[in-house]
Amino acid sequence: MSEGIELEAVERGTLLEEAARVARLKTALPQIRSVLADETDAVSIEATLACLLWDALPQTNWCGFYRRVGPRLLSVGPYQGGMGCLRIDFARGVCGACARTGEVQLVADVEAFPGHIACDSRTRSELVLPVLDHAGELRAVLDLDSPHPNGFSRAEAELLAALLRETLGRASTFW
Ligand code: SME
Repeated sequence: MSEGIELEAVERGTLLEEAARVARLKTALPQIRSVLADETDAVSIEATLACLLWDALPQTNWCGFYRRVGPRLLSVGPYQGGMGCLRIDFARGVCGACARTGEVQLVADVEAFPGHIACDSRTRSELVLPVLDHAGELRAVLDLDSPHPNGFSRAEAELLAALLRETLGRASTFW
């Protein structure tokens, strides 16, 4: 049986001050790690992260994964939020830039990002992080979108990158 994690209720779409967002994420992280402590299946981990990060990051209107399914192709994976694009070539958008470079993409204003894919026209900022397997191969990206400009910070990105390393980094079964 699972009851999720304990966090203060915050209305969906709220952009808290940065310090409050970081504090909320730091409250959520040990609980998320504990939930996933014994899980090694990547899809199970991704689905659970999408669910729990959706709660931990109320500023998001989309929270989930794009999986690498070809040399330069991403396909949508577990997520929360409105319907996302199904496939994304590495050449396109913020997710493609993350997959291509293997680097975190922190985009304060999507209008200023050439080639941004507007799956949801309300999205104003994005944070996309690479997911690497234990051999260092890019397996997926975590895509977080917000209807607020500047919806994510470097501190949130660093906390999330560590969470991805500790959870999906040790996944033994991918797709
Ligand atoms: N906006 C993203 C595409 C993914 S969806 O918005 C869910 C991008 O430019 O990569």
